[in-house]
Amino acid sequence: MPGLLLGDEFPNFDADTTIGRIKFHDFLGSSWGILFSHPRDFTPVCTTELACAAKISDEFKKRGVKMIALSIDSVEDHRNWSKDVMAFNSEAEIALPFPIIADDKRELSVKLGMLDPDERDKDGMPLTARCVFVIGPDKKLKLSILYPATTGRNFNEILRVIDSLQLTAQKKVATPVDWKPGDKVMVIPSLSEAEAAALFPNGVTTKEVPSGKKYLRYTQP
Ligand code: BEZ
Repeated sequence: MPGLLLGDEFPNFDADTTIGRIKFHDFLGSSWGILFSHPRDFTPVCTTELACAAKISDEFKKRGVKMIALSIDSVEDHRNWSKDVMAFNSEAEIALPFPIIADDKRELSVKLGMLDPDERDKDGMPLTARCVFVIGPDKKLKLSILYPATTGRNFNEILRVIDSLQLTAQKKVATPVDWKPGDKVMVIPSLSEAEAAALFPNGVTTKEVPSGKKYLRYTQP
């Protein structure tokens, strides 16, 4: 059974979190959102990830993206673990800048297809994988990445992906391999030459290839 697919409306679930009970769509408001799950509180890789996410939380704010984490422990555990995370960043006096969802009954993790069958706790219960869901202001799923529990994420790559998602939501372009903001982008294949010329006043350059097909079209957005 596939879980959530790109373009699906993200479920408007109710959940207990470190900032109280939330209804997910109300929490997001009209912002973009990122929900990232963790296998367990008080675990080493998860702690490094949450600490990194906290350190670069202003970058998410700048992009209008509301952050929320999830793990299968209680609100009380999350609050205590958050203190460890901020101490790991040598910022013990500052609160974790985003909430954590308490999914101790694993209901949400099952609903959103987030469990990792290969990683189990001491009672043999599956842990949450490292899922990343990016949700657009229309509440639809724009990106989903699933890492196993044993592989920590790269949050700078996640910011780069959000830059691409936000740019390509506005303009009829696609971002090529290893693209970074400021680099040239590619004109999407469905645009005719005339449409591309009208839409991109900075001009369109086309790379010649042996097939003679003019599909490698670049522009500066
Ligand atoms: C960790 O966060 O370190 C971790 C959690 C579950 C399985 C493996 C690693």
